[in-house]
Amino acid sequence: MEISAQQGDITQQQADCVVVNLFEGMTAPKGGTGALDQALGGAISRLIWSGDFSGEAGKTALLYAGSETPAPRVLVVGLGKPEAFDLHAARQASAVAAKATAGLRGVKTYATVLHGAGLGGLETAAAAQALAEGALLALYRPPQYKREASEIGPESCVVVEFDAEKLPAIEAGLEAGKAIAAGVNSARNYVSEPPNVLYPAEFAERAIAMAEATGLSWSVLGKREMRELGMGLALAVSRGSAHKPRLVILEHAPDAAADQPPLVLVGKGITFDTGGISIKPSENMWYMKDDMSGAAAVIGAMEAIARLNLPRRVIGLAICVENMPDGKAYRPGDILTGITGKTTEIISTDAEGRLVLADALGYAARYEPAAVVDLATLTGAIGVALGRQAAGLFANDEALLNALLVAAERSGERLWPMPMYAEYADEIKSDMAEVKNSGGRTSGVSSSAKFIEHFTEGYPWAHLDIASMVWTDADANPVNPKGATGYGVRLLVELANAL
Ligand code: BES
Ligand code: MN
Ligand code: ZN
Repeated sequence: MEISAQQGDITQQQADCVVVNLFEGMTAPKGGTGALDQALGGAISRLIWSGDFSGEAGKTALLYAGSETPAPRVLVVGLGKPEAFDLHAARQASAVAAKATAGLRGVKTYATVLHGAGLGGLETAAAAQALAEGALLALYRPPQYKREASEIGPESCVVVEFDAEKLPAIEAGLEAGKAIAAGVNSARNYVSEPPNVLYPAEFAERAIAMAEATGLSWSVLGKREMRELGMGLALAVSRGSAHKPRLVILEHAPDAAADQPPLVLVGKGITFDTGGISIKPSENMWYMKDDMSGAAAVIGAMEAIARLNLPRRVIGLAICVENMPDGKAYRPGDILTGITGKTTEIISTDAEGRLVLADALGYAARYEPAAVVDLATLTGAIGVALGRQAAGLFANDEALLNALLVAAERSGERLWPMPMYAEYADEIKSDMAEVKNSGGRTSGVSSSAKFIEHFTEGYPWAHLDIASMVWTDADANPVNPKGATGYGVRLLVELANAL
């Protein structure tokens, strides 16, 4: 959907639908909503008095106009209680409105007021950014493999603002929102793609195409380069697969920051996780196509960072491998050596994410990073601990941990700090090697982070276990339709902005 801004009067706007808003508890609509109410002879006031619509967040009401306005439909979207209103609420309201118009067959274009920039007290550009993000994230549809195309939503949205002086700020905000939504929706696309389509080499091709389009520098390492670097852990995970591994490297280095120590983002990119020889039960195994969501978030965030042209240097590493059982596959009991030289005993070939991350994190050290953050669908146990409301945050650096918590708060992509007690490392001591890749059942979450910590020498580091956040089976949140959520992109953009 195209989104643009125009100076104008919402009551005079030509569109299939006009969107206005209402705070909960308001009895007399104000601003653009008030003007439209007057033009409609009090129809919005009567709607409120009827008790059918109170402005509750997430709710909408639809009115059909006669000749009073050029637009035949008026959609009123609830903003919720004024005291609870913030940027997240503005984004949600825009998402709800976009979804509602998508449900109306006759609506190809809609015009809308900015949510929350008047009485809501939001800064104009920020409100415009939230509007673009909300609408574009809500209208996301996964790639379609049906022979007959199904219905699509509105084609364009115009933000109408009476005050011409506000237009530049609105336009800037819309552009930022579009850049971020593009990154999130790209990440969703990568995750949604079936694993027969998106295998490591294909994933790398898509990242290259994105880098070429946005001006990021890139390089991709294949099996030979990975072998030369000694990436024995990632290569072992890859050995059972017919698909060759890839390490995708993306760099955003604005001229003024070309020599700045970079923020390095590392993503787990298991394009399908069968568990390998430690094979998973077949029920629900298809979900394991989302085991590359960490890499998808990193590549999506790099896209947004490039489109926003953030002033800081950022490098994205996506380690892309398929984990399959085979005669050539690695096995439980194997002892392997990765890029850092540390020896690792394999207890479970299903604890493969930490192995590929170990080599990518070892590789990251060469950049002398300001900080490294890895994102991985690492354990089922994180969902047992935190449910679907937050990703687990593990860090060995207080400043980085706090920066991530702030970014989580600002983006609405929640993080919850998890312990990194030294004792958790005891459970992954091996009798023969320096470390083993799985501990007992009682420490699944923290011992996985302790394993990764072994391979993170020389820089501040944080690990985000995002396993329970990357997919949703229900349209519970208008901003996150059913399917891949693109979790992490907005969080990483906020972090890159702040560091
Ligand atoms: N990709 C899985 C983690 C996962 C499980 C994500 C369920 C989303 C839903 C990871 O590779 C894995 O298999 N982890 C094991 C670790 C165990 C073998 C130590 C797990 O969580 O069971
Ligand atoms: Mn696994
Ligand atoms: Zn996995």
